Amino acid sequence: MIFKTFAFLSYLLRSFHLHGIHSPFVFKLTNEVLRDKSAYYAYEEIEAIRSKLLLTHKKINVQDFGEGKHKSQERSISRICRNSSQRKAFAEIIHRLAIHSKAEHILELGTSLGITTAYLAKARPQAKIISIEGAPELSKIADINLKKLDIHNVKLINDQFKNSLDNALKELGKIDLVYFDGNHEYEATLNYFESCLKYADEQSLFIFDDIHWSASMQKAWNKIKDHPKVQCSIDLFQIGLIYFDPTLTKQHISVYHSANFSRT
Ligand SMILES: C[S@@+](CC[C@H](N)C(=O)[O-])C[C@H]1O[C@@H](n2cnc3c(N)ncnc32)[C@H](O)[C@@H]1O
Repeated sequence: MIFKTFAFLSYLLRSFHLHGIHSPFVFKLTNEVLRDKSAYYAYEEIEAIRSKLLLTHKKINVQDFGEGKHKSQERSISRICRNSSQRKAFAEIIHRLAIHSKAEHILELGTSLGITTAYLAKARPQAKIISIEGAPELSKIADINLKKLDIHNVKLINDQFKNSLDNALKELGKIDLVYFDGNHEYEATLNYFESCLKYADEQSLFIFDDIHWSASMQKAWNKIKDHPKVQCSIDLFQIGLIYFDPTLTKQHISVYHSANFSRT
């Protein structure tokens, strides 16, 4: 928590106002996508599902896959939703980024209850989407939620990332957008990045969640943005965006976003 607080203060100091953004691409993306305040039709229906989950106090068994613990714990669905699902403001940003990217092949690492999966699927109904979740009970609930939302372009895989990532990548053939939202460990994050990179091209977009969650996640983010294939990185504090397009202005930038102050 102390680490994250210092990281946030440092982000606030670093984040430029729009006039500090040199890349025309980042300037346009910030104005037209990241800070777009329009109400997209998908927001309301997905948030209605979230509201119901927040009121569901039934307990389920979930495994913790992080940091080699792999312990099973009873937790209420409402608590999982509150603690693990992406906040509305950032889920909306991910939705708009998916629309903007025109992604046809999408991979999500970490389905949980399926909230961001739904935001991705509603953004790109024509895309092929694979989302991986290790905990069986979560994967089942995500499946129900996607059906309620009439989403049919998502394949949910219930397995650990290390067992299923390679096959998921092979099945997709290529990836236009990856949302990395599970197992926030340094080595694991870099391994997932390297595996996905083999299937990415110059137009691909990688979105990492919780890039300042811990010292090791911040280290992983710094290592990823310094990769020679990365042309542009955008640090929005809660999430980080990685672009590979060599025609973009080379820039690593922190962009201020008010979504970081949103509690929901
Ligand atoms: C933060 S939650 C995902 C939240 C979801 N993307 C959303 O915002 O709606 C991360 C999920 O990844 C799963 N996970 C973490 N490490 C994993 C691993 N190594 N293999 C499979 N699943 C894993 C956890 O069980 C958890 O449900």
